[in-house]
Amino acid sequence: MSILVTGGLGFIGSHTVVALVEQDFKVVIADNLSNSKKEVLHAIENITKVKIPFYQIDVADEVSLNRLFESYDFKGVIHFAGYKSVGESVTEPLKYYRNNLLSTINIANACKKYGVKKLVFSSSATVYGDNQVPFDETMPLLPTTNPYGETKTMCERILTDFVQVNKEFEVTLLRYFNPIGAHPSGEIGELPNGVPNNLMPYITQVAKGKLKELKVFGDDYPTQDGTGVRDYIHVMDLAEGHVAAFTHITPGLHVYNLGTGLGTSVLEIIHTFERINHLRIPYKVVERRLGDIASSYADVSKAKKELKWSAKRNLEDMCKDAWNFEKNLSIK
Ligand code: UD1
Repeated sequence: MSILVTGGLGFIGSHTVVALVEQDFKVVIADNLSNSKKEVLHAIENITKVKIPFYQIDVADEVSLNRLFESYDFKGVIHFAGYKSVGESVTEPLKYYRNNLLSTINIANACKKYGVKKLVFSSSATVYGDNQVPFDETMPLLPTTNPYGETKTMCERILTDFVQVNKEFEVTLLRYFNPIGAHPSGEIGELPNGVPNNLMPYITQVAKGKLKELKVFGDDYPTQDGTGVRDYIHVMDLAEGHVAAFTHITPGLHVYNLGTGLGTSVLEIIHTFERINHLRIPYKVVERRLGDIASSYADVSKAKKELKWSAKRNLEDMCKDAWNFEKNLSIK
C-alpha cells in the first residue's frame, strides 16, 4: 500500500518523499506542476534509486483526484499541495481561498469515500499570528496578516470539524516553522518562482550574484539584535518529522509544531552563512516588511515526547546545504 503525497514535487514535498522512501514506504506523487518542475521527480529518483509513480493532476479537480483514489488502495495521504506566496495571496485572495480550501476539502472527501483513514496536513506557524513566543500547540490561534495564512487556519478548522464526526479517521496537522536548506546531495532544494520572498533563497541568490544585495527588513524589533527572529529548520529534519507523524498517527486529531525551538535573527543567519560558506553577503537595513512579526519560534516538546522526533541538523548544516544546492543548480 502506498502513501499519496500531494504537492510531492514542491520544496517540502520532495524532501518528504525522499525521507519516506528511505524508510521503505511506497509513495505516489500527485502534483499539478503549477509551482514545481518535472525534473524534481528525476532528481528524487536519482537520490532514492526508486521509481516513483507520478500523476500530473490538480487536487482541486475532484474528478481526477477520485480517479486516482480508485486506482490505488492508499494507506494514507500527506497533503502539501497548495499555493504559498504570501504577497500573491494579498493581491489574489480568491485564487488562494479557492485552491487551498477546495484541495483540502477534496482530499478529506476522497479519504472518506475510499476509506483512507490517515491524513497529514501541511500547516504553518503562521496560524499562531503574533502570540507570545515560544508558540505551543494549545495556544488560541490569532488572525494572520494575509489570505495565505488564513487558508492554513481555515483548513485546520475544516479538518478538525471533519474528525469530530468521523472519529475513526486519523488526522495530524503539522505546523511548520521556517524550513530552509536542501538535501545534502544538492539534487533537490528550494526553487522559488521569480524573485524570492523568503530569506534563505534570497541570500543564496545574492551569494550567486543573481541579486545585488539583501534587504534586511527592519532592525528595531525587540529581539537580540533588532532584526526578526525565526525558528529555521532544516528541510530534511522537517521531512523526517512527517515520517514520524505518519508512523505514530492514531485515531483522532493531532497537532504538532515542527521546528527546532531556537530563535535565530536575520543578522545571525547572514553571518553564519558567510562563515560556513566563505563568502560575503552584501546587505542593507531597510523599513520593516508589512505583516512581519518580531519573533516566531516553537515549543517543540510535544513532538519530541509523542512523535519521538526532534530536529538534528544545525544552522550551519542549513546554510551549507542551501548554498550547495543553489551553487550547483541544474534545474532551471
Ligand atoms: C513567511 C510567511 C509565512 C510563510 C513562510 C513560508 C510572511 C509575512 N510570512 O514567513 O506566512 O509560512 O514564509 O516559509 O511573509 N527577511 C529579510 N529580508 C528578506 C526576506 C526576509 O530581512 O529579503 C526577514 C523577515 O523580515 C523575517 C525573516 O527574514 O524576519 C524570515 O522571513 P521569511 O523567510 O520571508 O519567512 P517568514 O516571514 O517568517
